[in-house]
Amino acid sequence: MSFKSKWQKTKWLLKHRNLRRHIPRTVPFNRKNLRMMLSTYPIVYFKPTGGTGGFGIIRIKKITSGYQTKPQTVKSPSPTLGHLHKKLSRFSGRKAYLLQQGISLAKTKGRPFDIRVMVQKTNKGKWISTAMCTKIGKPDKIATNYHQGGRLGYLHQTLVGAGYKIKSILRKEAALKRLGVTVGKRFDSNRRGFRELGLDVALDTEGKLWILEVNTRPAIYPWKHLKGRKLYRRIRTAARQYGRVT
Ligand SMILES: Nc1ncnc2c1ncn2[C@@H]1O[C@H](COP(=O)(O)OP(=O)(O)O)[C@@H](O)[C@H]1O
Ligand SMILES: [Mg+2]
Repeated sequence: MSFKSKWQKTKWLLKHRNLRRHIPRTVPFNRKNLRMMLSTYPIVYFKPTGGTGGFGIIRIKKITSGYQTKPQTVKSPSPTLGHLHKKLSRFSGRKAYLLQQGISLAKTKGRPFDIRVMVQKTNKGKWISTAMCTKIGKPDKIATNYHQGGRLGYLHQTLVGAGYKIKSILRKEAALKRLGVTVGKRFDSNRRGFRELGLDVALDTEGKLWILEVNTRPAIYPWKHLKGRKLYRRIRTAARQYGRVT
């Protein structure tokens, strides 16, 4: 089952006490919220509520002379909040957008990355985090998505590249798996019919995990390109239980 609204999905997550601390502050885009978010966080993400693939996303940063956006829609930064609001409104058109607290992503060998956690439901109704990989972004991009030039990596290798030692890698891996299962259960209690979820999780520079979004129709084909195809096969086996043809 596919469910697109990032805003609705975030509200579901916020209802769960153990999940709340993993959710970056997220609010609908409007002038008042833009002011509030930029006076609270040094970096704010502007994202289409129904977007995918890292398209249509803008990162806003407060600088001394105003507000800088990336990618730039016009050459110079916006000198005032009113100017910025006008620019973003023009960019979004009639589409609904949200504002999200910017997370400073950990880097592996100098490149920012986030983590995809695949969570699938068995025929017996149990949620299992079946596979994890990392999405390593292009240095000049604000999103790590495949369509933005990001490439896939293995969790262990990526975390080694970020300076993590084996013990803390195993701890993070376990925490990510638990997070996946908790989100699966949470989604179940809001709407029936979910069988698979793909979490986009950010690891920040302090080692904290943040759920950036939950995909309800996660792509499986990119996993094919990870060498050995072990993770791909595991996902596919689980997906056959609910009749997804890959
Ligand atoms: N709040 C944020 N802080 C830092 N990076 C973000 C944030 N939101 C999104 N990103 C970056 O943009 C990518 C795409 O955002 P996401 O919410 O997953 O939208 P999409 O549906 O387009 O994939 C993320 O994988 C991450 O690299
Ligand atoms: Mg995403």
